[in-house]
Amino acid sequence: MSTGLVPTMGALHEGHRALLRTARAENGRVVMSLFVNPTQFGPGEDYRSYPRDEQRDRRIAAEEGVDEVFVPTVEEMYPPGFSTSVSVGELGDVFEGAYRPGHFLGVATVVLKLLLRVEPDHVYLGQKDAQQLAVIRRMVRDLDVPVYVRAVATQREPDGLAMSSRNVYLDADQRSRAASLYRALELRNPQEVEGEVDYFEVVDPDTFEPCAARAGALLVAAARFGGTRLIDNIVLEAP
Ligand code: PAJ
Repeated sequence: MSTGLVPTMGALHEGHRALLRTARAENGRVVMSLFVNPTQFGPGEDYRSYPRDEQRDRRIAAEEGVDEVFVPTVEEMYPPGFSTSVSVGELGDVFEGAYRPGHFLGVATVVLKLLLRVEPDHVYLGQKDAQQLAVIRRMVRDLDVPVYVRAVATQREPDGLAMSSRNVYLDADQRSRAASLYRALELRNPQEVEGEVDYFEVVDPDTFEPCAARAGALLVAAARFGGTRLIDNIVLEAP
Protein backbone atom coordinates (compact mmCIF):
# COMPACT_ATOMS: atom_id res chain seq x y z
CA MET A 1 0.00 0.00 0.00
CA SER A 2 1.54 3.32 -1.06
CA THR A 3 1.64 6.41 1.14
CA GLY A 4 1.04 9.94 -0.17
CA LEU A 5 2.21 12.97 1.83
CA VAL A 6 0.63 16.40 1.46
CA PRO A 7 2.73 18.97 3.37
CA THR A 8 0.79 22.08 4.41
CA MET A 9 0.93 25.04 6.77
CA GLY A 10 -2.82 24.76 7.36
CA ALA A 11 -5.46 27.46 6.75
CA LEU A 12 -6.69 24.97 4.17
CA HIS A 13 -8.49 26.09 1.00
CA GLU A 14 -9.48 24.57 -2.35
CA GLY A 15 -5.83 24.44 -3.44
CA HIS A 16 -4.97 22.16 -0.52
CA ARG A 17 -8.12 20.14 -1.17
CA ALA A 18 -6.98 19.48 -4.74
CA LEU A 19 -3.68 18.09 -3.42
CA LEU A 20 -5.51 15.93 -0.87
CA ARG A 21 -7.90 14.58 -3.53
CA THR A 22 -5.06 13.73 -5.91
CA ALA A 23 -3.17 12.01 -3.09
CA ARG A 24 -6.35 10.16 -2.05
CA ALA A 25 -6.89 8.91 -5.62
CA GLU A 26 -3.30 7.66 -5.98
CA ASN A 27 -2.49 6.10 -2.59
CA GLY A 28 -3.78 3.57 -0.08
CA ARG A 29 -2.74 5.83 2.78
CA VAL A 30 -2.74 9.64 2.85
CA VAL A 31 -0.83 11.69 5.42
CA MET A 32 -1.23 15.46 5.67
CA SER A 33 1.30 17.44 7.66
CA LEU A 34 0.22 20.65 9.32
CA PHE A 35 3.12 22.80 10.47
CA VAL A 36 3.61 26.55 10.22
CA ASN A 37 7.34 26.37 9.67
CA PRO A 38 9.08 29.30 11.40
CA THR A 39 12.36 28.91 9.49
CA GLN A 40 10.84 29.77 6.10
CA PHE A 41 9.53 33.16 7.29
CA GLY A 42 11.79 36.21 7.19
CA PRO A 43 12.15 38.62 10.14
CA GLY A 44 9.54 41.12 8.84
CA GLU A 45 7.12 38.44 7.59
CA ASP A 46 3.83 37.04 8.89
CA TYR A 47 4.91 34.00 10.97
CA ARG A 48 3.07 35.22 14.09
CA SER A 49 -0.06 36.39 12.29
CA TYR A 50 -0.24 33.48 9.80
CA PRO A 51 -3.87 32.18 9.89
CA ARG A 52 -4.16 29.14 12.19
CA ASP A 53 -7.26 26.99 12.76
CA GLU A 54 -6.30 23.40 13.51
CA GLN A 55 -9.85 22.20 14.21
CA ARG A 56 -11.15 23.45 10.89
CA ASP A 57 -8.11 21.99 9.08
CA ARG A 58 -8.67 18.59 10.75
CA ARG A 59 -12.31 18.67 9.68
CA ILE A 60 -11.35 19.40 6.06
CA ALA A 61 -8.70 16.66 6.14
CA ALA A 62 -11.33 14.19 7.37
CA GLU A 63 -13.72 15.30 4.60
CA GLU A 64 -11.02 14.59 2.03
CA GLY A 65 -10.32 11.12 3.44
CA VAL A 66 -6.94 11.83 5.01
CA ASP A 67 -5.82 8.87 7.16
CA GLU A 68 -3.42 10.75 9.39
CA VAL A 69 -2.76 14.41 10.22
CA PHE A 70 0.81 14.95 11.40
CA VAL A 71 1.09 18.10 13.55
CA PRO A 72 4.60 18.37 14.95
CA THR A 73 5.54 21.09 17.42
CA VAL A 74 8.26 23.65 16.73
CA GLU A 75 10.32 22.14 19.60
CA GLU A 76 10.02 18.67 18.07
CA MET A 77 11.13 19.84 14.62
CA TYR A 78 13.81 22.23 15.88
CA PRO A 79 15.16 21.09 19.25
CA PRO A 80 17.76 23.26 20.98
CA GLY A 81 21.02 23.25 19.05
CA PHE A 82 19.40 22.54 15.67
CA SER A 83 21.72 24.01 13.02
CA THR A 84 21.57 22.03 9.76
CA SER A 85 19.92 23.29 6.60
CA VAL A 86 19.49 22.10 3.03
CA SER A 87 20.63 24.46 0.28
CA VAL A 88 19.82 23.74 -3.35
CA GLY A 89 22.24 26.46 -4.50
CA GLU A 90 21.46 29.20 -7.01
CA LEU A 91 17.88 28.03 -7.65
CA GLY A 92 17.04 28.92 -4.06
CA ASP A 93 18.54 32.41 -4.30
CA VAL A 94 16.74 33.88 -7.33
CA PHE A 95 13.20 35.30 -7.72
CA GLU A 96 11.33 34.37 -4.49
CA GLY A 97 14.69 33.52 -2.93
CA ALA A 98 15.99 37.02 -3.71
CA TYR A 99 12.93 38.73 -2.19
CA ARG A 100 12.80 36.29 0.75
CA PRO A 101 16.40 35.47 1.73
CA GLY A 102 16.63 32.10 3.49
CA HIS A 103 13.07 31.15 2.55
CA PHE A 104 13.99 28.12 0.46
CA LEU A 105 16.58 26.93 2.99
CA GLY A 106 13.70 26.75 5.46
CA VAL A 107 11.38 25.07 2.95
CA ALA A 108 13.87 22.44 1.71
CA THR A 109 14.98 21.60 5.24
CA VAL A 110 11.49 21.16 6.66
CA VAL A 111 10.25 19.19 3.64
CA LEU A 112 13.24 16.83 3.89
CA LYS A 113 12.53 16.33 7.60
CA LEU A 114 8.86 15.60 6.85
CA LEU A 115 9.84 13.13 4.12
CA LEU A 116 12.21 11.34 6.50
CA ARG A 117 9.57 11.17 9.23
CA VAL A 118 6.62 10.03 7.08
CA GLU A 119 8.55 8.04 4.43
CA PRO A 120 5.91 8.55 1.73
CA ASP A 121 6.07 7.02 -1.77
CA HIS A 122 4.63 10.21 -3.27
CA VAL A 123 4.71 13.83 -2.13
CA TYR A 124 2.14 16.31 -3.50
CA LEU A 125 2.98 19.96 -4.19
CA GLY A 126 1.08 22.77 -5.91
CA GLN A 127 2.10 24.30 -9.23
CA LYS A 128 1.05 27.62 -7.64
CA ASP A 129 4.40 27.70 -5.81
CA ALA A 130 6.40 26.78 -8.91
CA GLN A 131 9.81 27.68 -7.50
CA GLN A 132 9.15 25.69 -4.33
CA LEU A 133 8.23 22.75 -6.57
CA ALA A 134 11.50 23.17 -8.51
CA VAL A 135 13.49 23.42 -5.25
CA ILE A 136 11.98 20.20 -3.87
CA ARG A 137 12.47 18.35 -7.17
CA ARG A 138 16.12 19.51 -7.20
CA MET A 139 16.66 18.38 -3.59
CA VAL A 140 15.04 14.98 -4.21
CA ARG A 141 17.19 14.43 -7.29
CA ASP A 142 20.46 15.67 -5.78
CA LEU A 143 20.10 13.87 -2.44
CA ASP A 144 18.58 10.63 -3.84
CA VAL A 145 15.48 11.03 -1.67
CA PRO A 146 13.32 7.96 -2.41
CA VAL A 147 10.04 9.74 -3.23
CA TYR A 148 8.14 10.70 -6.36
CA VAL A 149 7.22 14.39 -6.55
CA ARG A 150 3.74 15.01 -7.95
CA ALA A 151 2.64 18.50 -9.07
CA VAL A 152 -1.02 19.56 -8.88
CA ALA A 153 -2.49 22.36 -11.05
CA THR A 154 -3.16 25.78 -9.50
CA GLN A 155 -6.70 26.15 -8.15
CA ARG A 156 -8.27 29.58 -8.77
CA GLU A 157 -11.18 31.74 -7.68
CA PRO A 158 -13.81 32.42 -10.39
CA ASP A 159 -12.03 35.70 -11.33
CA GLY A 160 -8.70 33.89 -11.75
CA LEU A 161 -7.02 34.80 -8.45
CA ALA A 162 -4.93 31.83 -7.31
CA MET A 163 -6.19 30.45 -4.01
CA SER A 164 -3.83 31.26 -1.16
CA SER A 165 -3.97 31.26 2.62
CA ARG A 166 -2.75 34.87 2.42
CA ASN A 167 -5.79 36.06 0.38
CA VAL A 168 -7.59 36.62 3.71
CA TYR A 169 -5.27 39.58 4.31
CA LEU A 170 -6.73 41.47 1.30
CA ASP A 171 -9.36 44.13 1.90
CA ALA A 172 -12.18 44.53 -0.68
CA ASP A 173 -10.26 46.94 -2.90
CA GLN A 174 -7.03 44.92 -2.79
CA ARG A 175 -9.00 41.72 -3.42
CA SER A 176 -10.52 43.09 -6.63
CA ARG A 177 -7.14 44.42 -7.80
CA ALA A 178 -5.42 41.11 -6.96
CA ALA A 179 -7.25 39.34 -9.78
CA SER A 180 -5.25 41.51 -12.20
CA LEU A 181 -2.14 39.41 -11.49
CA TYR A 182 -3.55 36.38 -13.31
CA ARG A 183 -5.05 38.56 -16.07
CA ALA A 184 -1.63 40.12 -16.62
CA LEU A 185 -0.05 36.67 -16.88
CA GLU A 186 -2.66 35.60 -19.43
CA LEU A 187 -2.07 38.79 -21.41
CA ARG A 188 1.73 38.44 -20.94
CA ASN A 189 1.71 42.10 -19.87
CA PRO A 190 3.09 43.29 -16.51
CA GLN A 191 1.47 46.69 -17.04
CA GLU A 192 -1.94 45.07 -16.45
CA VAL A 193 -1.02 44.41 -12.79
CA GLU A 194 -2.94 46.79 -10.51
CA GLY A 195 -0.31 46.53 -7.80
CA GLU A 196 3.44 46.87 -7.36
CA VAL A 197 5.27 44.26 -9.43
CA ASP A 198 8.37 42.63 -7.91
CA TYR A 199 9.08 40.47 -10.96
CA PHE A 200 7.34 39.29 -14.14
CA GLU A 201 9.54 37.01 -16.20
CA VAL A 202 9.76 33.90 -18.38
CA VAL A 203 11.97 31.22 -16.80
CA ASP A 204 13.03 27.64 -17.25
CA PRO A 205 10.78 25.58 -14.92
CA ASP A 206 13.68 23.52 -13.51
CA THR A 207 16.44 26.11 -13.08
CA PHE A 208 14.48 29.37 -12.91
CA GLU A 209 17.01 30.90 -15.28
CA PRO A 210 15.36 33.53 -17.49
CA CYS A 211 14.74 32.12 -20.97
CA ALA A 212 12.96 32.89 -24.23
CA ALA A 213 9.21 32.23 -24.36
CA ARG A 214 8.62 28.65 -25.51
CA ALA A 215 6.19 25.83 -24.81
CA GLY A 216 6.79 24.52 -21.31
CA ALA A 217 8.53 27.65 -20.04
CA LEU A 218 7.01 29.38 -17.00
CA LEU A 219 5.84 32.95 -16.76
CA VAL A 220 6.32 33.80 -13.07
CA ALA A 221 5.17 36.92 -11.27
CA ALA A 222 5.05 38.47 -7.83
CA ALA A 223 3.25 41.66 -6.88
CA ARG A 224 2.18 43.55 -3.78
CA PHE A 225 -1.37 44.69 -3.10
CA GLY A 226 -1.21 46.89 -0.04
CA GLY A 227 0.87 44.94 2.49
CA THR A 228 0.13 41.57 0.91
CA ARG A 229 2.58 40.00 -1.51
CA LEU A 230 1.13 37.45 -3.94
CA ILE A 231 2.81 35.11 -6.42
CA ASP A 232 1.40 33.33 -9.45
CA ASN A 233 2.58 31.68 -12.65
CA ILE A 234 1.39 30.09 -15.86
CA VAL A 235 2.95 27.44 -18.04
CA LEU A 236 3.41 28.78 -21.57
CA GLU A 237 1.93 26.79 -24.42
CA ALA A 238 3.06 26.53 -28.01
CA PRO A 239 2.24 29.80 -29.86
P1 PAJ B 1 1.15 25.99 2.06
O1 PAJ B 1 1.25 27.40 1.64
O2 PAJ B 1 0.15 25.60 3.12
O3 PAJ B 1 0.85 25.14 0.78
C1 PAJ B 1 0.78 23.74 0.84
C2 PAJ B 1 0.71 23.19 -0.57
O4 PAJ B 1 -0.47 23.66 -1.21
C3 PAJ B 1 1.91 23.66 -1.43
O5 PAJ B 1 2.40 22.56 -2.18
C4 PAJ B 1 1.27 24.71 -2.31
O6 PAJ B 1 1.92 24.85 -3.56
C5 PAJ B 1 -0.13 24.16 -2.48
N1 PAJ B 1 -1.05 25.21 -2.90
C6 PAJ B 1 -1.24 26.42 -2.32
N2 PAJ B 1 -2.14 27.15 -3.03
C7 PAJ B 1 -2.52 26.37 -4.08
C8 PAJ B 1 -3.41 26.56 -5.18
N3 PAJ B 1 -4.11 27.68 -5.34
N4 PAJ B 1 -3.55 25.55 -6.07
C9 PAJ B 1 -2.83 24.39 -5.92
N5 PAJ B 1 -1.98 24.16 -4.90
C10 PAJ B 1 -1.82 25.13 -4.00
O7 PAJ B 1 3.76 25.63 0.66
C11 PAJ B 1 3.73 25.47 1.86
O8 PAJ B 1 2.56 25.47 2.61
C12 PAJ B 1 4.99 25.25 2.68
O9 PAJ B 1 6.06 25.92 2.06
C13 PAJ B 1 5.34 23.74 2.87
C14 PAJ B 1 5.59 23.04 1.55
C15 PAJ B 1 4.21 23.04 3.65
C16 PAJ B 1 6.64 23.63 3.72
O10 PAJ B 1 6.51 24.27 4.93
